[in-house]
Order: sequence, then C-alpha cells, then structure tokens
Amino acid sequence: SSKYRPFPAIALPDRQWPSRTIERAPVWLSTDLRDGNQALFEPMNAERKLRLFDLLVQVGLKEIEVGFPAASQTDFDIVRHLIESGRVPDDVTLMVMTQAREDLIVRTVEALRGARRAIVHVYNATAPLWRRTVFRLSEDEVMALVERQVRCLRRLTDACPDTEWVLQYSPETFCMTELEVSLRACTTAMQAWGAGPGRPIILNLPTTVEVATPNVFADQIEWMDRHLPQREHVILSVHPHNDRGTGVACAELALMAGAQRVEGCLFGNGERSGNVDLVTLALNLYTQGVAPGLDFSDLGAVARTVEACTALPVHPRHPYAGDLVHTAFSGSHQDAIRKGLAARSEGGFWEVPYLPIDPADIGRTFDNVIRVNSQSGKGGIAYLMERHFGLVMPRRMQVEFSAVVQAHADTSEAEVDVDRLWTLFAATYLAP
Ligand code: KIV
Ligand code: ZN
Repeated sequence: SSKYRPFPAIALPDRQWPSRTIERAPVWLSTDLRDGNQALFEPMNAERKLRLFDLLVQVGLKEIEVGFPAASQTDFDIVRHLIESGRVPDDVTLMVMTQAREDLIVRTVEALRGARRAIVHVYNATAPLWRRTVFRLSEDEVMALVERQVRCLRRLTDACPDTEWVLQYSPETFCMTELEVSLRACTTAMQAWGAGPGRPIILNLPTTVEVATPNVFADQIEWMDRHLPQREHVILSVHPHNDRGTGVACAELALMAGAQRVEGCLFGNGERSGNVDLVTLALNLYTQGVAPGLDFSDLGAVARTVEACTALPVHPRHPYAGDLVHTAFSGSHQDAIRKGLAARSEGGFWEVPYLPIDPADIGRTFDNVIRVNSQSGKGGIAYLMERHFGLVMPRRMQVEFSAVVQAHADTSEAEVDVDRLWTLFAATYLAP
C-alpha cells in the first residue's frame, strides 16, 4: 500500500479515464557508465566509474551498461576488475556494447569471461538518412550486417556455456526508421540469435535523436509490440533521449504502449540534452502509488555522488532532486503548505498543497520547504519562528513582524535565513 493516490480524484464524465496507466515498474537499465560517460567533457576515469557503479548498485539497478570494452582499454580493465573482484552482486547483470566487427566482438566476449550472466549490446543505425548518407548501405546490406554480427556473437558465446548470455539488439535511429525496416532488423537479429524458449532477446528501441511528439513514439512502440513474432520471448526496451525535452513523456507513454524496460541515466545525463532521467521516471511512478524498485530515500546523497563523478551539477529546479523544488517563498503557498501539514489527510494519503511528494521520502528535511524572501508572508515567518525558536506569535505580532522582515528583504534583496530572522526579532522586540 502506498501513501500516494494514483490519480487526482477527478474523472472526466464522458469517457473512461485515464485511458491507460502504468501498473508496474519496468526493468531499468542504467547507461550512466556508457551513454552518460561518452557525453562528458571529461570522461570518467576508472576510480570515478567504479564509484558510480557502486552507487547504481546501491540505488537498486539490476542491469548496468558499463562501457565499450573492445574500444577502450579502460573499459576492458573495468569489466575485468568488476568480474574478478566479485564487486557485481549476484542479482546484477553487466551489459557492454560492441560494434559490428568480428575482432571487436571477440574482444567483447573476452572481456566478459567468467561473468555469471552478461548482456551483449549490438547495434547499428537503420534510418534512411544513415543508410544513405553515413554508411551507404542498402536495406538488404543493413540486414546482412545484423545477421553477420549476431551470428558471430552466437558462435563465440556458445563456446562459453558457463555464462548466461543475453543479446540486446538496438536498431539505432529507430524513431526515424520505417517501421517495416525496424521490424525486419529486429526479426533478423532474433533469428540469427535463435531467440525462443530459454533464449530471450532484448530488443531496445531508441529515440536516438528525439524528433516527434511522445505519442508518435508510443504509436511506434505499440506497432512493434503487436507485430514482433514470438513476442513472449522478447523483452521490449526503450532508450529515449531528450532532444525535445520530452524524454520522460516518451518513456512513460512507451510503457503504456507495451514496453517493459527503460534505459536511461541518473538526472538525465547523456548525449546532447541527455538520456531519459531515471530519477524522475522512478519518482513519478512512486508518487502515483507504484513501487519503482529503485531507492531514492536519500536523493541528496545520490545527487552529490553523481555530481562528483560526472562533474555536472544537478539543476536547482530539477524535478524531485533540485535544491529549490520543495521550497516555497511565496506567502500564499507557504500558508497553504502550513495548513496542509497541520491537517489530517483523507484516508491517510499524502495531500499537502504544492508538495507532490513528501520531502521526507527522499531524505529532505522540512527546513528547506518554507524559506523567506521579499515575496513571503506572515504565515511562513510565523512557521519558522515557532519551528526554530518555539515562539508562537499572536496574530497582530505576526502582521507587525512580517512588515519588518519584508522591509529588510526589500532593501537587502536577499533571502532572510533563520539566524537573520532572530536578529530582526531581537532588534524589534528585545532591544533595551
Ligand atoms: O541513442 C542510441 O541510439 C544509442 C543506441 C546505441 C542504443 O545509444
Ligand atoms: Zn543513446
């Protein structure tokens, strides 16, 4: 049971509403160490990668893409270190990426030797622009490439039966590819891998570059969901980027359209405007009453570690995680929050105006919720005086003192912290 209601208790009278919902959390894959890392000013060194890996495990990620071992010696060494040091918990699977060249596939399989379970991620671009301009390949040649690389992987992995091998195939640029071509590429990969009972395959459909509204992507996912053969042996995955700022919406609509797995990065790091943000997705589920299976109960600590590893700051307005997102400066909001916190909510659900999540659930104290500047009113000031100094001010005094505080905030043009509040209070009422 959850303290959050799935939907606002308002229904549209003339139709079934909402038309679809997300009932359960998807399988999550973190690509922080691959797609996230390749987009940094300064890619992470081994120490930072391992620190981030440990954090991802701690948060509850069960599938983690760790890099490109055939293309980078650092990545190769990290994969070897992870496997040999026993740093990978039994319920966590490493995924690595490889390009379609036999020598690279050989090296990739070598990097994973001894892993209990491993996902090998092969990909190639399928969209007409890439076929025509970047690779100069016909559609048939693209299919031949998929078949060749997957067959090669199958041959090499069949020779290492101690590892449970999973193939992930991504038709890169899926969102810009004709659906029949995507389907053909995916079924080619399935056949070459021998997908079927006991031999699942992950088909990962990316918005490599987000180019359309999220409903278009959802329609594409739904079409694939309906047309893929042997659907029960396929794990249908999505990999949204955020070029139009709608990566989260794409992922959510894709889940409603049949996707079962989502790839993304913490706080939306990644190429250009990022990969889809796993934190926002997970906490969106949480605040709809669906257990996300990821632990963000100390979100501040998660943010600090990610910032240290990536050298990228989390924006103060970032959903859920930003320093300012649970803060009310405005007088009317402060008043509403104070009343909501004091009231008992209906049916035990979390219902506090302007606070879609209980800050305590993500490790935030209430000290940040009500802060004072020139926009604040008497309610917020009274709340802070009572909370920090045990001072219950009568109403007339609240009105009088808030005028003093506002005058100070207007001239200083700055936030008034609690120490300053006390100084103003003492100067107004306690001065000899
Ligand atoms: O964005 C993308 O298309 C990718 C693929 C390789 C999955 O990162
Ligand atoms: Zn990507």
